[in-house]
Formats: sequence, structure tokens, C-alpha cells
Amino acid sequence: MAEVLVTRRPLGDAIERIQKVARVVIWEEDRPIPRDELLNAVSTIHGLYCMLTDRIDDEMMMAAPHLQVISQMAVGVDNIDLASATALRIPVGHTPEVLTETTADTAFALLLAAARRVGEGIDHVRDGRWGPWDPQLLLGTDVHGATLGVVGMGRIGAAIARRAGGFDMRVLYSGSRKPDLEARLGLIHRTLDQLLSESDHVVASVPLTEETRAMFNDATFARMRPSATFVNIARGAVVDHDALSRALEDGTIGAAALDVTDPEPIPADHPLVTDERCTILPHLGSSSGATREAMASLAADNLIAGLTGDPLVACANPAVYAEPDDED
Ligand code: DGY
Repeated sequence: MAEVLVTRRPLGDAIERIQKVARVVIWEEDRPIPRDELLNAVSTIHGLYCMLTDRIDDEMMMAAPHLQVISQMAVGVDNIDLASATALRIPVGHTPEVLTETTADTAFALLLAAARRVGEGIDHVRDGRWGPWDPQLLLGTDVHGATLGVVGMGRIGAAIARRAGGFDMRVLYSGSRKPDLEARLGLIHRTLDQLLSESDHVVASVPLTEETRAMFNDATFARMRPSATFVNIARGAVVDHDALSRALEDGTIGAAALDVTDPEPIPADHPLVTDERCTILPHLGSSSGATREAMASLAADNLIAGLTGDPLVACANPAVYAEPDDED
């Protein structure tokens, strides 16, 4: 029987379903499996059901000579060396679609919280600072009717843009042109520089790649408006956090809200943690019970398909299915 390693216990019946086709070993601790333990554990497995906290690189794959499928319970796969997996003909599953709307909800929650200073308001009350009504207390920036710049118009970016329609926002996007979305959602295409300078609020929803790493830096923050809100729901490493800290400190931008940081967790003494204009969540983008269960289930579907030799339902490296002749 095939052997599967699951690196964190998922919600729902994912494990029971995998157990019908494989012998399952689960890392049960309440923390990611340490790398040396993972390197050891993969030596006999045929399927790996992993999390975004596991680094699945060439060394890991080389340590797993029987590996037939990697199935990650996340849409982002920047922790996995896709080129190595493809070269080794290992399909990599991920969980797009099922988390799109929940993650877009989180983006909007962060945007509203940062622009309208919700975190500061909560602290104000909790700290016993709430005095008589003050006409100038914690003045924020409007979200309704404002211009939203979405950097990364993929599935989640489009779901954010759809929500922005309900707030009567003008939505700009950069990157490759999406005429269907322009027609359907009234999106306006801009270069990145134009988007940054025209937007009242900027949301990052790009995948982490070598091109997007630290793309939000001193230079890009300098192009934003002094009142701008910056929201990151992508990956922490798309932002240079020292640059963000400087931008908030010197008023280059108005506020920030991060669902993701680099590293995670961000050190408690990082200036962004104590900066009252910065709202930080502990990577909760897809964290509703229903969505995490749907992710767990899709990851199980991918894993089972890979073990039984079927194409994965959602494959992050479809090149793995190309005939050798189709490749360059
Ligand atoms: C992902 O899926 O990539 C998120 O970061 C976690 O839901």
C-alpha cells in the first residue's frame, strides 16, 4: 500500500478519504514539522500532503525517491521548487478557487480596518482612553468612492475588485491585460507606477516569484499618496518590511495592513508590530472553518489522484503532464 505523510492534521474527512488508498502518517504536533524530521520521514513515502510552512526543495525531493505526488493545502506554492518537481515528473497539487472569496473578504476587512483606523479605535477603548466625543478623534480615510489599485489581478484580485464595486470604488489594476474583467467589472488598466500614484488604497495580491519579491520597496512606496493605505494579502516577501516601516514612519504613506509577513511570525519587536498605523493579522486570509475544510478536501482529491495515476484536480505544474517531445 502507498505511504503518505501529512504534515499538519487537516479539517474534515480528508484523512479518512486518503486512508482508503494509502497508509497515512500524520505529524500531530501543533507546530510545523522540523526540516530534519521531514527529510527523514519522506524517504519511504509515495505521497506528501504538505503546508506552506514546509520547504519542499530539490534536497527534499531527492530524499524521497518514491514520491509520486506533492499536494499542498494552499493556493500559493512558493515554498515548493516547481522546476525540480517538474523535472522529476512529480505533480504538485494546490487549492485555488475554494479560498478565493474568503481571502477577498480578508483583504476588505484589512482595508477597512487600516483606512478607518479600527485597530487604533479598539486600543483606544481597551486602554481606557475614550473620553467625550471628539470631532477630530482618529480621522481615517474613506473607502467608499475611493480609487483602489489591485496589484495582481488573478482570481483573488478579481474577487476584491468585485467587492470594491459595492463600495462605489474606481478600480485600477496593473500587469497583463484582462479585457473580460475590464468589461465585466469596469476595471481600468494602468502601469504599476500610474496605479501607485493614482490609488487611494493599494492591495497586493500577486504570487511570490523572483519578479515580485520585494516589489513593494522604498521606490514603490515613494510613488504612493501620503494618505494611501497599503494592504498585503499575498506573501510577506513581496514587501520590503524595513521600507514599509520607513514609509509609515515618515508619512510617505498613511497606513498599512498585512495578513502576511516575512518571516512569519514577524518578530514581536519589529517596528511594524508596534506602529499603530500598521494592522497585522497572523496569516488568516483563508481562515474560515468552511474554507479550510474545502482546502483540506481539495488537497486530498489532488493527493488521491496523484497516487492513483490520475491528473490532479488542480495542478500547479501542469508542464509535468507534457509529453517529453512537447518540451523546449
Ligand atoms: C494560500 O493558500 O496560499 C494562503 O496563503 C493560505 O490560505
